[in-house]
Amino acid sequence: MSTTDITVYGIVGSLRKRSWNRLLMESAARLAPDGVTVTISDLLGQFPLFNEDLLGQEPPAVTRMREEIAAADALMVATPEYNGGVPGVLKNAFDWISLPLGASVLQGKPVALIGTSPGRLGTARSQFELRNMFVFSQSPVMPGPEVVMPFAPKCFDEAGNLTDPVATERIGILFEKLRGHVLASRMEAAVR
Ligand SMILES: Cc1cc2nc3c(=O)[nH]c(=O)nc-3n(C[C@H](O)[C@H](O)[C@H](O)COP(=O)(O)O)c2cc1C
Repeated sequence: MSTTDITVYGIVGSLRKRSWNRLLMESAARLAPDGVTVTISDLLGQFPLFNEDLLGQEPPAVTRMREEIAAADALMVATPEYNGGVPGVLKNAFDWISLPLGASVLQGKPVALIGTSPGRLGTARSQFELRNMFVFSQSPVMPGPEVVMPFAPKCFDEAGNLTDPVATERIGILFEKLRGHVLASRMEAAVR
C-alpha cells in the first residue's frame, strides 16, 4: 500500500437486480486507476424506513454502512432518477447515515456522483438534488466532470461492460479528482 493509494466506497441507489446503475458502478470499479480500490456496498436493501423513533436501536445494516464509510477515503454514488429526483432508497439511507447531525461520517467525506438512465437526461436532475443534500452533511462533492449518462441500454455491451467513451473518460478523471482531494486533505492533516 502506497501513501497515494485511496479507498472508495461505492453506493448504488437501485435495488434492481439488472440495474443499469449497478452496471455503471461495477464498470467504474474496474476502470479505477492503480492505487484506487472501490468496494461496492450491498447494504442499502437492508435499511428500514427512516423513523426517529428507532434512534437508539439502530439497525445493524446502518451501523455497518456507517463504519464502512468511515473507513473509506471517499464515496462514489451511482444514482438512478425517479420522477425527476433522488430514489427513495438512497434518500432514506442518507437520512440514516447523516446522523448525528453535524458530526456524521459524511462530514468532510469527498463524494463523486455518477448516474445513468434509459432517458435523455441521464439522471441530471437526481444528481443535482444529491449535490444539494450533501451540502447538509458538509460532504464536498466533486464539481465535475459530470457523469450523466443518457440512453443506458446503448452504453453497455452484452457482458455489462461500459462501452460509452465519454462516460469512461469522465469516470477516469473523476477518480483522479477524488484522489487529489483525499491526498490534499491528508497533507493538510499531516502539517496541522
Ligand atoms: C416510478 C419511476 C419513475 C421514473 N422516473 C424517471 C425520471 O424521472 N427520469 C429518468 O431518467 N428515468 C426515470 N425512470 C426510469 C428509470 O431511469 C429506469 O427505470 C432505470 O432503469 C432505473 O435505474 P436502474 O436501472 O439503475 O434500476 C423512472 C422509472 C420509474 C419506475
